[in-house]
Amino acid sequence: MAFSETPYELRSARFLAAEVHARVLRPGDTVVDATLGNGHDACRLAELVGPEGRLIGMDVQAEAVERSRARLTEAGLIGRCELHVLGHERMAEIVREPVRLIVFNLGWLPGGDKTITTHWDTTRRAVEAALSLLLPGGVLTVCAYPGHAAGDEERSALPGLFAALRPQDYNVLHQRFLNAGPGAPECFVAQRQG
Ligand SMILES: C[S@@+](CC[C@H](N)C(=O)[O-])C[C@H]1O[C@@H](n2cnc3c(N)ncnc32)[C@H](O)[C@@H]1O
Repeated sequence: MAFSETPYELRSARFLAAEVHARVLRPGDTVVDATLGNGHDACRLAELVGPEGRLIGMDVQAEAVERSRARLTEAGLIGRCELHVLGHERMAEIVREPVRLIVFNLGWLPGGDKTITTHWDTTRRAVEAALSLLLPGGVLTVCAYPGHAAGDEERSALPGLFAALRPQDYNVLHQRFLNAGPGAPECFVAQRQG
């Protein structure tokens, strides 16, 4: 493995997830962004899969999809992207073949309506669908944000869902900052076994 030029900074759940994404994705891969939001993650992921790769993105809010479309267009990446206004619990309707990586960044749209946030009922169904859509060796990352009611419920319930998976099928890692207070974001990484 080549050494990175940039200094390592242990600073956030999203940073930890982004490191995993950069290690997992290869040019030509298909990646799913299950929570498009403002399109920051989508731009980074679409870069990583290269011009032969594909990003399938979704968000329950049309506003988020349009913001992401604008950002991807501006970055010259929209040609490799397929964006949907859709709840991620329905992702199996648009992801028709196994994929290398599926990314969830839970919560609400930054700069948007905070009442439209992810909720455990749909997050659970979406994560279960995503797990079954991974290629062997494929990876799922979930960044969870406690500190509000829906986020607290997700953060509390996710370990149970992942812990129930058979180790023959998935390896799962749970990363949390131990000295950053109870509201600190957490990152879950699951890899489907070969
Ligand atoms: C924290 S934001 C995502 C940030 C984004 N990844 C970025 O880089 O800007 C979470 C997003 O999840 C979306 N969301 C909430 N419930 C959803 C659902 N059931 N399916 C898909 N997206 C959902 C929200 O609309 C919001 O845009």
